[in-house]
Amino acid sequence: MSGWADEIVATQGHGNVVVHDRKRLIASEALFSGKGQCAQCHYRNSRLAPPLHGVSAKGRDYILESIVNPNAVISSEYQSSKIVTTSGESIIGRVLSLSETELEIAINAPQVGVVISHFNRDDIAEDGKGALLIKRIPQSPMPGNYQSLLSESEISDVVYLLEILKYSPY
Ligand code: HEC
Repeated sequence: MSGWADEIVATQGHGNVVVHDRKRLIASEALFSGKGQCAQCHYRNSRLAPPLHGVSAKGRDYILESIVNPNAVISSEYQSSKIVTTSGESIIGRVLSLSETELEIAINAPQVGVVISHFNRDDIAEDGKGALLIKRIPQSPMPGNYQSLLSESEISDVVYLLEILKYSPY
């Protein structure tokens, strides 16, 4: 683990999270919804990304790993799939439901955010054996470059925010 992660551990002790650093909390929130664009996917009742208010229970290392190395652990519930349509288009998103007639999928559209789309089942291509071309993919939809997108102290601030979420209304 790199130095800045150790620093968070060192300054905050083990489980004794300081909840009164209001200035840092405000800066962290600004990162979460601004520069980090976390709020584009993580918001109340998002159908693409998991809620984060309970993530503090999983521990600081887990939170940190989820941000800097999002492909390390991906919960199957939130795994993305790649769908190929009969017109040859590829779509990546979280499959919400697949009925006899329709596929419902949550897609992260650049600049727009989470969009819920519906496709006719008949418009999904099949492989040679008659199975629909819907394949789970091992990549998280989270950007994989947060370590270069955010500075060490910014990542540390976002981790701090998620650690204290259970005490806050966000
Ligand atoms: C493009 C959408 C998207 C963006 C942007 C995004 N996330 Fe995520 N995030 C997800 C999805 C989907 C998952 C669940 C799959 C996975 O683990 O990658 C997830 C998982 C997580 C988890 C693990 C949650 C758990 O309970 O296991 C954490 C923590 C997290 N994100 C924090 C962040 C932070 C902090 C940011 C911004 C710096 C961010 N995310 C940006 C979509 C996104």
